[in-house]
Amino acid sequence: MRIGTSNSTKLLDNACVNEYKIPLIVMMENAVLAAFKHMDIANNQKYVIVSGVGNNGGDGLGIARQLKAHGKEVDVFIVGNIEKMSECSKINYNILKAMDISTNIIDKENLDYLKSKIKNSDVVVDCIFGTGLERDIKGIYYDVIDIINQNKNKTYSIDVPSGINATTGDILGICIDADKTISFEFYKRGFLKYATKEFIGEVIVEHIGIPKYILDKYDDKEYITDIELIKENIKIKNKFSFKSDFGKVAIFAGSRGFTGAAYIATQAAVKSGSGLTTLISDSYVQNIASQKLCEAMTLDIDEDEKVKKLIKGCDAIGFGCGMGDNEVTYNKLEYVLKNTTCTIIIDADGLNILKQKKELLENNPDRIIITPHLGEMARLTGYPIDYIRDNKVDVAKEFAKKYKLIVLLKGYETVITDGEYTYINPTGNAAMANGGMGDTLLGIITSFVGQGMTNLMATVCGAYIHGYIGDTLSKKLYTVNATDIISSIPKIIKFFQK
Ligand code: APR
Repeated sequence: MRIGTSNSTKLLDNACVNEYKIPLIVMMENAVLAAFKHMDIANNQKYVIVSGVGNNGGDGLGIARQLKAHGKEVDVFIVGNIEKMSECSKINYNILKAMDISTNIIDKENLDYLKSKIKNSDVVVDCIFGTGLERDIKGIYYDVIDIINQNKNKTYSIDVPSGINATTGDILGICIDADKTISFEFYKRGFLKYATKEFIGEVIVEHIGIPKYILDKYDDKEYITDIELIKENIKIKNKFSFKSDFGKVAIFAGSRGFTGAAYIATQAAVKSGSGLTTLISDSYVQNIASQKLCEAMTLDIDEDEKVKKLIKGCDAIGFGCGMGDNEVTYNKLEYVLKNTTCTIIIDADGLNILKQKKELLENNPDRIIITPHLGEMARLTGYPIDYIRDNKVDVAKEFAKKYKLIVLLKGYETVITDGEYTYINPTGNAAMANGGMGDTLLGIITSFVGQGMTNLMATVCGAYIHGYIGDTLSKKLYTVNATDIISSIPKIIKFFQK
């Protein structure tokens, strides 16, 4: 699913009208019909529509007409200067008047009337501001939103809950607390901000008939990952396949006290379908892990010549889980980067090292994937955690572009970007918030790169499948642990295989 901003809406509207001669009223009616489908008319009778004077308001007026045509009781309230009503809204306004639908222009004097109508309604439809909101909400607009928020029944917002900046997610003074938001053509970028989540309710994205070639022309290259993308990328094992077709990978992981990280990352790669997997760790970890890892090989990290030979032949290498934030880890990372040309996926202690050694990133463009959480990203970029949380897409993109690598920024709605294309991962849940999850993810991504996916798609698919397994298991488990995820990997990948 595409993600877009206020500006994207403007560009698309202009392209439809000016380049392709599609009148705006046609697009508005498409939006009206698309939104009308979600008015839940089987369960409700009395509707209050509150419209502004822009095109979002016009959508509301059209919805009012459709509701009336379907036998519903509808009261329409308009807030704003009616002289400044947009052209398409005026068309819908005149139809309402001709149809004798009750329309009230809101002023300070009739706010109590609005209140009483809302109190007696089943659903309030908010169409005050959409993507055209441009400054703080004050005066009568503030009062109207405040009244709507006292509604005890359902509130549906059209395109954007009024008061939320569709691009940044900032709340401009006050905003509608929606139960459901029916948004058009793309998920609004502002909805990604954590602070808006409690106001947008359930978000439905409806297409309003904008031709695909117009959408492609003005694509912001930001998406929410969907199942179809995953299915397109999972490799079909054909009957002539050898293990060498599924990649040779190595995982550098573990240290005393962190044996589990080594086991988990390696086993996740095995279960994700790697042809050959080797854990490279210190001899202490190797002795323990080799007793648990039946399918993977193990190698002592200090066996220099053997390590060099092995990594030279690898298709992907995972690095960092539980290795320790120390000079030895740094030296090993430098060594691995120097002696290989394949993709290196770096997590945990590997990332901690990078914060002082950015030259390792600068000298290795287009072959590194980093998987930081917010704290690690803060250490890497120098930005405060709160700033990163509120600007996660921009921060991840900036870093990815600067160092020519792929960033997977973990958290609720993980961001994956190569600086140009950005994917927001919709899977995963709080039951997965426990030790070892990052190690599992690293193993899956390493395996997918080794199997031949592009670095970006391996990261996108890895994050999606990892979270998808967690979502499936959490329906029955209070907590989902790394080993639970690992044992479900083959079954779920099979489910995604076309
Ligand atoms: N206070 C008062 N008026 C405001 C404020 C504000 N804080 N911010 C913007 N406006 C006014 C603008 O000056 C304009 O008159 O609101 C109107 C625009 O609001 P929208 O309807 O959100 O913008 P518009 O571009 O007309 O329509 C975009 O149309 O495609 C549909 O619903 C879809 O969200 C989309 C909307």
